[in-house]
Amino acid sequence: MEVIIKRSSVEVSHLAARIVAHQVKRKPDSVLGLATGATPELMYSSLAHMHRDEKLDFSRVTTFNLDEYVGLAANHPHSYHHYMETNFFSHVNIPKERIHIPDGLAKDIPASCREYEAAIHAAGGIDLQVLGLGTDGHIGFNEPSSSLSSRTRIKTLTEQTVDANRRFFSKGEKVPHHVITMGVGTIREARCCILIAYGEGKADAVARMVEGPITAMVPASVLQLHENTIVIVDEESARNLARRDYYHFVYNNKVAWQRYE
Ligand code: GLP
Repeated sequence: MEVIIKRSSVEVSHLAARIVAHQVKRKPDSVLGLATGATPELMYSSLAHMHRDEKLDFSRVTTFNLDEYVGLAANHPHSYHHYMETNFFSHVNIPKERIHIPDGLAKDIPASCREYEAAIHAAGGIDLQVLGLGTDGHIGFNEPSSSLSSRTRIKTLTEQTVDANRRFFSKGEKVPHHVITMGVGTIREARCCILIAYGEGKADAVARMVEGPITAMVPASVLQLHENTIVIVDEESARNLARRDYYHFVYNNKVAWQRYE
């Protein structure tokens, strides 16, 4: 696990965007795993700028999103389909047929989850998975106690996550408790993961993910077992990390070919 501590959320987002762009340039038919939430918004707008200004080409890219709310149609303003369309897909040139997001209205949810897994497999697996981090240490919507080998399936959100996501919904609107999410096992199979987090609200989860024991109670801690994971955080969310100075030292003393910027 490589831990990179940047000064601000803007620097975190720009570095994440550069890593995604590098992947797409190196392998134009990359399979990207994508996340939602407030955290990656700036990364997406940065990638959209690269598409517009630097002609970063997504025409051969395939995407798989991590999760979706059960019961929300794709055009619902708070669905993750809508989020992705607004924040990213409408600004770049990924062909519609290469975009995959779990279907919140699937009649047979277990069957649609199996199909989602099969589609990832048929695409050759995920090259680069972008992840955010829940305040309780979840990735995707894999809440604490999720099996570390779990696959795409329906999950029930904790009250903590429902409350954290309430800010995206209108006042009085019901926040769904049920979601479809890629499993922890699905995420672990990505060839590379980049997890981004910022703000003091994530400090506890970041410390438990990076330096705590590997446990289903902090699903993100499983990334310690992943051979190619980059954690990009800001100073505020890194403040509980005991080895902060070491991570800075490592990053500042990389040999040239290891650098991302
Ligand atoms: C939701 C999403 C996660 C995301 C998390 C953090 O639970 N399913 O993918 O990482 O929220 O959200 P935010 O970035 O808004 O803090």
